[in-house]
Amino acid sequence: MTTTDVRAELTGTGEQQPEWFDPQRPVPDVRTALPGPAAQEVLSADGAVTSPSLPRAYPLAPRRGWRSTLEDVDGNLFLDFNAGIAVNSTGHAHPTVVRAVQEQAADLLHYSASDFFLPIYSQMCQALADVAPMSDPVRVFLTNSGAEAVEGALKLSRYATGRPYVISFNGAFHGRTYGALSLTASKAKYHKGFGPLLPGVHHVPFADPRIAAEGGRDTGTIDYLENTLFRYDVDPSEVAAIFVEPIQGEGGYIVPADGWMADLRELCDRYGILLVADEVQSGAGRTGKMWAIEHTGVEPDILLSAKGLASGLPLGAFIARASIMESWGVGAHGSTYGGSPVPCAAGLATLQVIREEGLLENATEQGNALLEGLRALQAQHPDTLVDVRGVGLMIGIEFPSGEIAEAVQMAAFERGLLVLEAGENVVRMAPPLVIDRSEVETGLRILAEAVVEVVAR
Ligand SMILES: Cc1ncc(COP(=O)(O)O)c(C=O)c1O
Repeated sequence: MTTTDVRAELTGTGEQQPEWFDPQRPVPDVRTALPGPAAQEVLSADGAVTSPSLPRAYPLAPRRGWRSTLEDVDGNLFLDFNAGIAVNSTGHAHPTVVRAVQEQAADLLHYSASDFFLPIYSQMCQALADVAPMSDPVRVFLTNSGAEAVEGALKLSRYATGRPYVISFNGAFHGRTYGALSLTASKAKYHKGFGPLLPGVHHVPFADPRIAAEGGRDTGTIDYLENTLFRYDVDPSEVAAIFVEPIQGEGGYIVPADGWMADLRELCDRYGILLVADEVQSGAGRTGKMWAIEHTGVEPDILLSAKGLASGLPLGAFIARASIMESWGVGAHGSTYGGSPVPCAAGLATLQVIREEGLLENATEQGNALLEGLRALQAQHPDTLVDVRGVGLMIGIEFPSGEIAEAVQMAAFERGLLVLEAGENVVRMAPPLVIDRSEVETGLRILAEAVVEVVAR
């Protein structure tokens, strides 16, 4: 028996592979020009009716998926290193998740947990409390999206501290609703035309990826806070919270240097500021630990999750130290759909699969193999791959310009590898946590071909 057979037997994935998926067919396998004829129809129907604000990356029209494979409407097979923007953590159509969703849908599609006592809601909260990276007791609030988790945490931190100001980082992405948008500072166009935004939000410099790469100590953020913001602009006693992505996602997959997060924690403790870790993209196992902040040894006061938490169903959460969450009372916050039964069923199944199938270990192992392969490619093309960075399966490749990053993304797509730009000049890899070694090797081979093609232009 091969390792894959053993794994399939353990997880039941062998038997439950969908009929359309042919294990003999190689992945990727692109048989039409892209977009193919069916995709072109989707694109033109879509173009006529959808909002032009949607930032489409390339003409992919997905139909169905299995593990790390995505089939488009023309029957082309892609190797999916996007996972629906870091969402399909257990891969496409994981049988345990699909079964949990189907069974829950047949029992009860909806009842609001805001006004009533939905058992699966508290089960999901307990499951998150069990894996929270805090040593104090916690309480959990469930939402429908990442932005809603950010909004809730923003309200809670102002409420609990009685302080008006909040701090987030240049390059940060926290979502598109007004509070979350005000914390976001990854691209000016996200703010353009929408002002005035929420008052009282201050943006400060994030960690420097070059210092992290050199293994140095990165004191730039703390210096700016202490010697500029707190000196000339805002008294720290009026700051409610600092919102931070432990690894900056949309801003370009930036990993802070060792000690950077600990320094931030120490500063927060000194001034009674809450540390809010936005793990919407970096959490739910993506970096090889359940939460990216666990790599730093730092405990946040509030932690935000969404994306990978329910393998694709809309579920988010903010987890706060109980003493903080207990500061607000009945009616202060609620949601009709947040923590609805079907997303909760998907969330519980996702956490179960992550645990039972050793997906944290797999993310570490495959992530290290990916990083190693990318660094070897970087050694061959040092002027093109300016930086390769990441933890687990949250990996960024920095190119000299946005044009080159985009060209590599497109060349990969045409060969059947799905990757996505982040920041100004970075291509990100965020495959499902179930990815295996041969898929890693295939992804590396295709990315290398894409780079060679772009270099030769
Ligand atoms: C770190 C982070 N926070 C919040 C969000 C917003 O999540 P959503 O798109 O589910 O509202 C995102 C989305 O990319 C994110 O990466």
